[in-house]
Amino acid sequence: MKTLLRIDSSPRKDASLSRQLANKLQTRLEKEGPIVVQNRDLYYDELVKLGNEDQINGFFTPIENQTDSQKTAIKGSNILANEFANADEYLFAVPMYNFGVSAGLKTYIDLISRAGITFNYADGSPVGLLKNKKAYVIIVTGGTPLESDYDFVTPYLRVLLNFIGVTDIEFIKVASTSTNVEKALINAKSEIEVLDVSR
Ligand SMILES: Cc1cc2nc3c(=O)[nH]c(=O)nc-3n(C[C@H](O)[C@H](O)[C@H](O)COP(=O)(O)O)c2cc1C
Repeated sequence: MKTLLRIDSSPRKDASLSRQLANKLQTRLEKEGPIVVQNRDLYYDELVKLGNEDQINGFFTPIENQTDSQKTAIKGSNILANEFANADEYLFAVPMYNFGVSAGLKTYIDLISRAGITFNYADGSPVGLLKNKKAYVIIVTGGTPLESDYDFVTPYLRVLLNFIGVTDIEFIKVASTSTNVEKALINAKSEIEVLDVSR
């Protein structure tokens, strides 16, 4: 059975608009056919932690040469990166924080972007190792227009996902929720209703 990895990156829970919309899209994806759902709630996940020197050195040291403390330091990243590599579909719920992604999502990205697991170097150039994946990315902003010069979320996530081999990406862009939140939610939910989620 296929696996959907849902990634929440707002520290807010009930009040979170990105979670609310991701719930709706998750329901649609589940209705499309049986799928196993895994969750990473980035601000509440013990594995999503800023690294230390052993971790960074461990990332670039062949396993047979790693020290015990390097092995310990990269354990969480190994789990997260392999889980990401093994999923078939992704559902990202992404608030814009200060024109970019939240710190939780940036930390997670640094933990899953791993040479040998999600990308590799071929003749010195990086090549994404993930194939035949589909990503849904819900981005919510308070006032910043998406795809504007101030939006460092959409291009960053597009480049990052492409870099690791995820090229089939559906962005659901929910901008300017602070002006009229009801209208923004109604529009986003309508968009989710008609989204092509066929597998
Ligand atoms: C720390 C912080 C920084 C934010 N930075 C921006 C920003 O740069 N541009 C913007 O339009 N909205 C910004 N917002 C508003 C959030 O994007 C908006 O409230 C969004 O709904 C948050 O996602 P959530 O509802 O899932 O928690 C910021 C909110 C917080 C808490």
